[in-house]
Amino acid sequence: MTRWLERPEADALPDEPMAELEKRVAGLLGLDAALFFPSGTMAQQVALRIHADRRGRRTFAAHPQTHLDTWEERGYTAVHDLRHRPAGDRNELMTAADLAAIDEPLAAVLWELPQRDLGGLLPSWDELREQIAVARAAGAAVHMDGARLWEAQTFYRRPLAEIAGLFDTVYVSLYKGLAGLRGALLAGDRVTVAEAGVWRKRLGGGLSEAWPVAISALDGLDTLLPRMPEFREHAIAIAAAITADGVASVSPDPPQTPIFHIHLPAGRRAVEQAGAALLAEHGTQLFGRLRSSPDPRRCSFEVSVGLNALELSPAEVAALIRELVDRASSG
Ligand SMILES: Cc1ncc(COP(=O)(O)O)c(C=O)c1O
Repeated sequence: MTRWLERPEADALPDEPMAELEKRVAGLLGLDAALFFPSGTMAQQVALRIHADRRGRRTFAAHPQTHLDTWEERGYTAVHDLRHRPAGDRNELMTAADLAAIDEPLAAVLWELPQRDLGGLLPSWDELREQIAVARAAGAAVHMDGARLWEAQTFYRRPLAEIAGLFDTVYVSLYKGLAGLRGALLAGDRVTVAEAGVWRKRLGGGLSEAWPVAISALDGLDTLLPRMPEFREHAIAIAAAITADGVASVSPDPPQTPIFHIHLPAGRRAVEQAGAALLAEHGTQLFGRLRSSPDPRRCSFEVSVGLNALELSPAEVAALIRELVDRASSG
């Protein structure tokens, strides 16, 4: 047992589980190195900042519904003076033509794989490569918002390293599909990751005792990552049962990953109340957050299949969705 006259500075203590996690994920992604960040929000701001500073350009292109715009209060502009150039249609995936049409110098292009707000939609492998070639030809860095890369891999059916290898920098989440406590990793070449470490320090993101986070993510890599194809199959089966029932629809149809959206022919508030009643009566929570629609008679929600959803059979989910819509329509 060590005795201390003065406790060492916390960040001088080795964090072996975190070092192991960083090394393991860098290996999985086939990239030189990976660095822990307390959040994907911080990790991606840092990646974009580095690409922008190197190129002397402040603009990055990304889908109009990028997570950085919709859910992160546009920290990239408030903190780093960067600008988002939306590429393509709000309700469709970005295309190579959308990127080629951008007539200003870009620091980077960011791809969210899969595109969460489009129900986890992904471009085909060839389309993705074509888009990346367009970005590179324009001198832009290519960055992946891989919050759900673990899920996206089930669609491409290629090794994670082959997908990640298309990019300069890749962010992955530790707490979504891997069900870790929190946190993110930013991976890339050694020089970029070292520079990211400087920014992490500047932003106060160098948590010294993050080992519980690392242990929970390592567990996710061992136990959940191998099951992603099974989660995808279950998502496809649930979606098929809903489509066959006919009262609601799914998007994409069929799902490409364990994630998809269910679209309901009823307004958001009515479905909110019906969902609360169903939860009270059946003890089953069907949705986290309902998405409104420009058509007030419709709404939708995201389903992300993991261990919990495996407990529900496709027929059971389809019946619950029908009951949800019936209640919302009659309430
Ligand atoms: C696609 C996507 N990108 C980035 C993030 C940000 O991650 P964090 O919550 O770790 O900041 C999320 C979180 O939900 C996300 O879904």
